[in-house]
Amino acid sequence: MSKITVVGAGNVGATCANVLAHADVFNEVVLIDIQGDLAKGKALDTWQQAPVDGYSTRLTGGSDYALSANSDIVVITAGVPRKPGMTRDDLISTNAKIVVSVTQNLLKFTKNPIIIVVSNPLDVMTYACWKASGLSDKRVFGMAGVLDTARYRAFLAEELDVSPKDIQAMLMGGHGDTMVPLPRYTTVSGIPVTELIKKEKLDAIIERTKFGGGELVNLMGTSAWYAPGAAAAQMAIAIIKDEKRVYPCCVRLNGQYKLKDVFVGSPVKLGRKGVQEIIKLRLKKDELDLLHKSAAAVKEVSDLLDGMKVF
Ligand code: NAI
Ligand code: 2OP
Repeated sequence: MSKITVVGAGNVGATCANVLAHADVFNEVVLIDIQGDLAKGKALDTWQQAPVDGYSTRLTGGSDYALSANSDIVVITAGVPRKPGMTRDDLISTNAKIVVSVTQNLLKFTKNPIIIVVSNPLDVMTYACWKASGLSDKRVFGMAGVLDTARYRAFLAEELDVSPKDIQAMLMGGHGDTMVPLPRYTTVSGIPVTELIKKEKLDAIIERTKFGGGELVNLMGTSAWYAPGAAAAQMAIAIIKDEKRVYPCCVRLNGQYKLKDVFVGSPVKLGRKGVQEIIKLRLKKDELDLLHKSAAAVKEVSDLLDGMKVF
């Protein structure tokens, strides 16, 4: 039996649950949300999609954390978007309080889950969840890099007129405009991307990737959900199938890349035990400098959170 709980049945959480149901690898998908019967309704709707699309995954939903009991994996998407009049600090404190209380509620019913955090600001919310959970840092990590590399790969596929399936890429750092896409680790079916695209075009794609989330907010008036939900689902599937997939994930670095006690994006191997390895790339000085700059930006916000008495 395998079971996954997705907390937050909004745009990202409901999409994630829907993608997971279609993958048919978990026996049970549970959706939890604080808003009345929203999660119950979305779980029922996705269950009614099963006969049409042909999957066996059972879905349940509600606001009671007892539904999540003994989950193998939990995905946390609960949070609020920034509202008018709300400062960045207000958002950090509000969402951290949500992530901490969600984590505490989950742990009442599941002893040692693997937790994938999606709520923003991602790197700092992953830190908040890890700190509140008392779990190993191999079992609490965040989704950002799978989405950010997907955007980078999609833009490259469009520019080169090739299938997005054939673009492999790596990216490091925080989930924000300091993220560090790595052209040296980007290939098209093994061909270094730098052999196929002019530097100015590649630089423009990197810039577009860094602001990829904002581009969608400008188009839709709210943040993206299809690619984010699918990205979190892909990580969960790699874990439950013990696939040892190599993905960029937000993890706690503890000495790797000369960074200590900070959650940022890094390539990792994902398997049934969670983060099974943090892969160390031989970064060049300019790449390492960008990573350190990005980690410093994340650390500044997590230090702010430490001073907020959220825990
Ligand atoms: P949404 O507003 O559609 O859904 C959030 C849901 O969380 C709502 O249904 C709300 O009722 C629920 N919620 C709030 N407090 C809760 C609590 N205490 N317990 C349980 N549920 C609670 O938002 P959306 O679009 O689904 O985004 C969710 C989060 O994911 C946001 O923080 C967003 O910024 C973030 N995000 C992160 C991405 C990433 O790459 N890491 C990408 C896209 C979104
Ligand atoms: C995104 O990158 C806002 O984090 C969200 O779409």
